[in-house]
Amino acid sequence: MSNLKKNYLAEYDAATEDEKYPLIVKWMSEEPLPFFKQLRQERPVLVNSVCTLVAKFNDVRDMLLMPKVVTVDLYKPKMGVTATDEGYLMAHDDDALHYREKSLMQAMLNRDDLPYIRSIIEKSCQKILKKAHGKLEMVRGYSRHVPAIMVKQYFGLDGIETHHLLRWSYWNQIDAFNNQPIDILTKEQSQLITDTHDEVSEEFGVYMGVLIARKMTRIKVDKFLDKLSLPWRLIKRIFYYLLKKEPPKANPDEVIMRMLKSSFDKDVDFNIVRLGVNAGGLLIGSIETTSQAVTQIVDFLLNKPELLAKARAAATDDDCTEFDNIVWEASRFVPIRPDIFRILASDYTVAKGSEHETHIPSGTIVRLLTQSAMFDSYAYKDPDDFNPDRNLYHNFTFGIGSHTCLGKYVGIVMIPEMVKQIILMQGLKSDGGINYKDSPFPEEFNLQWDK
Ligand code: HEM
Repeated sequence: MSNLKKNYLAEYDAATEDEKYPLIVKWMSEEPLPFFKQLRQERPVLVNSVCTLVAKFNDVRDMLLMPKVVTVDLYKPKMGVTATDEGYLMAHDDDALHYREKSLMQAMLNRDDLPYIRSIIEKSCQKILKKAHGKLEMVRGYSRHVPAIMVKQYFGLDGIETHHLLRWSYWNQIDAFNNQPIDILTKEQSQLITDTHDEVSEEFGVYMGVLIARKMTRIKVDKFLDKLSLPWRLIKRIFYYLLKKEPPKANPDEVIMRMLKSSFDKDVDFNIVRLGVNAGGLLIGSIETTSQAVTQIVDFLLNKPELLAKARAAATDDDCTEFDNIVWEASRFVPIRPDIFRILASDYTVAKGSEHETHIPSGTIVRLLTQSAMFDSYAYKDPDDFNPDRNLYHNFTFGIGSHTCLGKYVGIVMIPEMVKQIILMQGLKSDGGINYKDSPFPEEFNLQWDK
């Protein structure tokens, strides 16, 4: 074993069967990088009785690119899939529903809106930070709050107090990603999460029904007002024509409004129920992911004064590329989670012909260590170095393959802008770092800066 201070695998091999998986969980959470490095060097596929870990870039990518074999079936009970209900697209692997709905939703989240989204985020952050007068509990007041503003203003899930949106998103997220056979929970803890998830999902469903009815009424009223205002709009157009000026561009419509205004032939199979399920998914995906990414990246930068100074300098540049690249490189070190988990629908032999070729039987849960993959020298030269000048196609922050994050491009502008606005505060420091309070997500992060 070369260059490794701690021998994780020796400790693992010496542990009793009952101790083995808790050790894996502990190292994945507390010291992932050296643990993953040893895995890549000595046991790229670690077979455990709970699940199998896959550590090398090529194997992780390989397995994430075969959705019918390496499946998302563990999401099914969490995302509403039953014998009579198709549930959410994320719990479907490479089938008609996933293909259809993912592409429709990608069109709805028009990437041409990104400058508008970034401007919403910029203004919201600046307003919050100005009001904070140099002191802020960042999770409640910023990292969850700002994506909720985007959810209301851009996605259009409005007319509701923010704390409801946060609660619905939190319990859906925790049930899907942190209440799985790979999570070490007591039966009672697991049941409590399931029950709370079921309870909030009902509330969320009622809200979505009312929201859709309200938005449909607004569409009808707008159509009517549009007709009435036709003469006025004509006058305006003539006015701008005479001035040889372009009329001011209106803000993009809310995503839910454009979904409702688009008419889909029945053969497209995107009825109002499917529309509602997909509009709801926009909330669930947005809050905790963004909050965790932003909080961890800010904390990471605060712990590296030289890098923070570099990031600050880049943040003042009109072109955001350099700054954003620093953020994406930081996310490699502190991703929202170190893995993507899957369950095998049939036997699969990974890394065929290599020394670590391993047969993985059907029904095995695999933890595909995306963070480890991002530190594999196959992906990046000198992977342990912080280098913002990296090829982002090997960065798995938003996943890879057919389940690549639907909100990726929203996240790509929202996360750096949120980080940027906060690190621009002069004299920024944290009071005690991030407190997770036994939750998988950051729960408290107290910040102070010069007023
Ligand atoms: C901004 C709003 C967001 C929305 C609406 C959203 C939505 C989604 C959806 C619907 C999927 C499933 C796609 C599919 O199965 O085809 C997904 C996957 C994923 N998202 Fe997001 N997401 C958002 C933000 C984020 C952020 C900020 C991160 C990370 C920093 C993230 C990380 C991921 C990852 C890693 C996956 C892949 C999961 C897997 O392969 O099992 N998402 N997202």
